Amino acid sequence: MSARDSRHISVLGREAVAFLAPHAGGVYVDATFGAGGYSRVILGVAETRVIGIDRDRTAILGGFDLVDGSDGRLTLVEDRFSNLAEVCAAQGLEAVDGIVMDVGVSSMQLDQAERGFSFRLGGPLDMRMGQSGPTAADVVAKASESDLASIIYIFGEERHSRGVARAIVAARKEAAITTTQALADIVAKVVRAKPNEIHPATRTFQALRIFVNEELDELHQALAASERMLRPGGRLVVVSFHSLEDRIVKTFFAERGKAAAGSRHLPEVAQAAPSFQILTRRPVTAGEAEVAANPRSRSAKLRAAERTAAPLHKADALPSWPRLADVMRGG
Ligand SMILES: C[S@@+](CC[C@H](N)C(=O)[O-])C[C@H]1O[C@@H](n2cnc3c(N)ncnc32)[C@H](O)[C@@H]1O
Repeated sequence: MSARDSRHISVLGREAVAFLAPHAGGVYVDATFGAGGYSRVILGVAETRVIGIDRDRTAILGGFDLVDGSDGRLTLVEDRFSNLAEVCAAQGLEAVDGIVMDVGVSSMQLDQAERGFSFRLGGPLDMRMGQSGPTAADVVAKASESDLASIIYIFGEERHSRGVARAIVAARKEAAITTTQALADIVAKVVRAKPNEIHPATRTFQALRIFVNEELDELHQALAASERMLRPGGRLVVVSFHSLEDRIVKTFFAERGKAAAGSRHLPEVAQAAPSFQILTRRPVTAGEAEVAANPRSRSAKLRAAERTAAPLHKADALPSWPRLADVMRGG
């Protein structure tokens, strides 16, 4: 096992691949390649083909050894997983047998101070999973006070979001906020930590990370793309790490797992049959041993479903929360 493998532990990896149920000769999308933990297990099944996607170039570059040893069965693509249908089309694939997503940041990203995800490690206020687009420092410098308050409230579920936004705006008039430590100090003056509670900056950092990477829109779009790309019998497996993500997956499966409401006048024609059969009535969570070995797995939830032969359901509108391009445009 290389240093890279041993540093990274795939959360719920065994369970995720068991639900994916790869079969010989099948084609699978590992939409969050990371350190390749899931891909490696899928490639262990004879003649499978895997398209691994990650928006982080360092994850893709780190997977080249696995590509070299895969006999042409692993293809890695640097892209957002919301583009998974286009990524597959570029590989000549119209449909696939399974899609697995392990959403959120990797421990490798969290542990690299220079990526700016952690207030415990000093670093630039970056937080981008990929190498393009505005950084968290850009958002903190540019967003209006009311946008900052909404971002911190919606994506961080921070009760003191208005106070934090006000403090950020006051501080940035004095000096640009460019480091994780500077932001953590500003938040800590507004949000008081009680003993045994999480660090006061945790929720603000989560909010900025989700916002900068457009994580919830990405998930919405990737789920819709999966419904389009899976062939009947193909499986979708999603591992998520916090309640905002899990709610999106749960709602998507609940809606696709029942007949879509049709017209009262044309019930037989307009009713769409369920496009997924749900395989996990309750989310699967990590067992005690996994949590002891890897505390990050404590909040992981796995949900899985199997595509039926029913047509696509009508696409859902994206929720109306602040969007990165609008905030950076000042709109
Ligand atoms: C939790 S790690 C995945 C770990 C992987 N299952 C393994 O076993 O190594 C999540 C990975 O997904 C990537 N990622 C997160 N959101 C993404 C998105 N919207 N598009 C593409 N990659 C994304 C991150 O860059 C990170 O490398």
